[in-house]
Amino acid sequence: MKDIRFTYSHALNTHELQQYKEETQSALRTLTEGTGAGNDFIGWLSLPKDIRSQVSAIQKTADRLRNQCDIIVCVGIGGSYLGAKAVIDALLPSFAWLEDRKPQIVYAGNNIGEDYLYELQGLLRGKNFGIICISKSGTTTEPALAFRLLKIQLEEQAGKETARERIVCITDAKKGALRTLATQEGYDTFVIEDNIGGRFSVLSPVGLLPIACAGLDINALLDGAERVMDVCTTADFADNPALLYAASRNHLYRQGKKIELLVNYHPKLHYVSEWWKQLYGESEGKENKGIFPASVDFTTDLHSMGQYVQEGERHLFETVISVAEPNHKLVVPSDEANLDGLNFLAGKRVDEVNKMAELGTRLAHMDGGVPNLLIELPKLNEYALGELIAFFEVGCGVSGYMLGINPFNQPGVEAYKKNMFALLHKPGYEEATAAIEKRIQKQN
Ligand code: PA5
Repeated sequence: MKDIRFTYSHALNTHELQQYKEETQSALRTLTEGTGAGNDFIGWLSLPKDIRSQVSAIQKTADRLRNQCDIIVCVGIGGSYLGAKAVIDALLPSFAWLEDRKPQIVYAGNNIGEDYLYELQGLLRGKNFGIICISKSGTTTEPALAFRLLKIQLEEQAGKETARERIVCITDAKKGALRTLATQEGYDTFVIEDNIGGRFSVLSPVGLLPIACAGLDINALLDGAERVMDVCTTADFADNPALLYAASRNHLYRQGKKIELLVNYHPKLHYVSEWWKQLYGESEGKENKGIFPASVDFTTDLHSMGQYVQEGERHLFETVISVAEPNHKLVVPSDEANLDGLNFLAGKRVDEVNKMAELGTRLAHMDGGVPNLLIELPKLNEYALGELIAFFEVGCGVSGYMLGINPFNQPGVEAYKKNMFALLHKPGYEEATAAIEKRIQKQN
């Protein structure tokens, strides 16, 4: 197997699938012709090609940061960090953070945990570190707060001049506090184009710069993405994995399967699931509609969630990401004493055990009434990850239009921000502050 492959046959039959042919093709046309809601946010469709002109500048900046820094802190939240973390975690060694490897990549601005930030500051004390601050709006509280703390720390530790060389900002071309700050401080910047939303931005500088800083091959990532983006935006229904995925999951949703569990059998893929959850959750969860995206890491979570998946409420379907060939080979040794009784596995690769666990689980879950979709990747490398990203992005745009919503906005995310700003007495929120304080008093 050379490329990504999608199989629906353990969830629906060909006759059921065919009923979605016209609908998915029409949703794809709406997406690619830019005639649907949110059509000013479809720049990601051509990103694998369009971004090529910036690759050498991104790589040059990454090389500079890699030379200058022992630790690079990626500051960002949601779409401004999940894609990079997904690719980096999937492709670096599992224990990269314990290795004597430079630079180490760490993350901040994706939470407001005081202990997290305090402990991060402790880690960075006395170290050569740099910061990539990523925020499209340039106004998001979590990254802004972390950046303020880390920028001051870097300036105190390394001096303002050196700090300037080690800070790179990725934000809007003109708008937002981060753009103003970066311009005034003279930081290097990359632009997030207006027509690319955060959760679709992994193949822009948002994802590419951190990924290149981790020493990974961003050209190969883009090659894989470009190939599959091309297939998924042009191929006919039967040969188009993104259309088959969108058709299958929407069919299952309409049959009452309201939860999609993304399943992996490699712990390195944990953050691919986190990225996918944001992509689908924030794109589809609107107007009281949308499949709830959830995820599990198997076989780990078979010992925590397995019972529910097998016998709990039947509102689930699974989408399994299966990796055909691991990057390393490990064979189970024979043991003369066989005290653990494992000699029946001797001589087999660990991956064979994992694959049998995967197959056995898929069959058991199907028997238990959990339909099963399958995505197969040949290997975990940059090219395959690029393919997976493009597949999921097109599948998401098409699914959103099939659902009848705008897949590219996120109005619901504002509700918590408004309350938080009101409670924190942010200037401009006086009316909201009065209203929320009254509400809290009443509840007490
Ligand atoms: O997908 C999105 O648009 C969001 O998840 C954003 O990425 C997230 O809210 C961060 O926003 P910003 O990059 O403006 O700080």
